[in-house]
Order: sequence, then C-alpha cells, then structure tokens
Amino acid sequence: MFVGYPNWWYDMPMAMYSFFDEYDLSNKTIITFNTSGGSAFSDTINTIKKLEPNANVIEGITIRAEDVESSQNEINEWLNDLGYNI
Ligand SMILES: Cc1cc2nc3c(=O)[nH]c(=O)nc-3n(C[C@H](O)[C@H](O)[C@H](O)COP(=O)(O)O)c2cc1C
Repeated sequence: MFVGYPNWWYDMPMAMYSFFDEYDLSNKTIITFNTSGGSAFSDTINTIKKLEPNANVIEGITIRAEDVESSQNEINEWLNDLGYNI
C-alpha cells in the first residue's frame, strides 16, 4: 500500500500515528511518500517500522512543497521504477 504524509515538526502528523494504531499492517508492503519544506522524511521511516514491525516499509519519494507542481515527471519515473507503468 502507498502511504503519504507531510513532514510536520520533523515527524508525521498525529493522524498518521492514529492510522498505524488502528490498522495491523503485518505482512503488507508499505511504500511511503512525503512532502516537506526540506526535512524530507526526517526519522519517519524508522518510526513507521516501529509502529508496524511486521510490515515491509519502503522509503519512497520525497518532494519539497515548493516543487510539488513541477514534479509529475519525477513521480512518474519513481512509479515506473517500482514497476507501475505510468
Ligand atoms: C504544523 C506544520 C509543521 C511543519 N513542520 C515541518 C518540518 O519540521 N520540516 C519541514 O521540512 N516542513 C515542515 N512543514 C512544511 C510541510 O511539510 C509542507 O507544508 C507540506 O509538506 C506541504 O504539503 P501541504 O500542501 O499538504 O501542506 C510543516 C508544516 C506544518 C503545517
């Protein structure tokens, strides 16, 4: 599954913690993506690994907020590299 979130205070928004509390994603692959003002993922990948210890957590693409509108090609390439034909 794809899970995306903005970086808030070098972390995920609290709603993401609620999401990972609510669902047991054991044996799932979690492909992350994120936007930020420049802090990228910070330590959120490790945080998700702790919250979902039996999931396969993959660090995906991170985009700066100011670059979102011009990032379509980069995102398509990322998805193509993952095996999705965009
Ligand atoms: C409460 C709050 C805290 C933020 N903290 C950070 C931060 O620590 N590092 C960072 O790079 N960007 C930070 N940002 C910028 C957001 O990551 C950025 O605005 C967001 O990824 C853009 O997505 P949006 O258009 O959905 O807000 C913060 C934004 C908000 C609203």
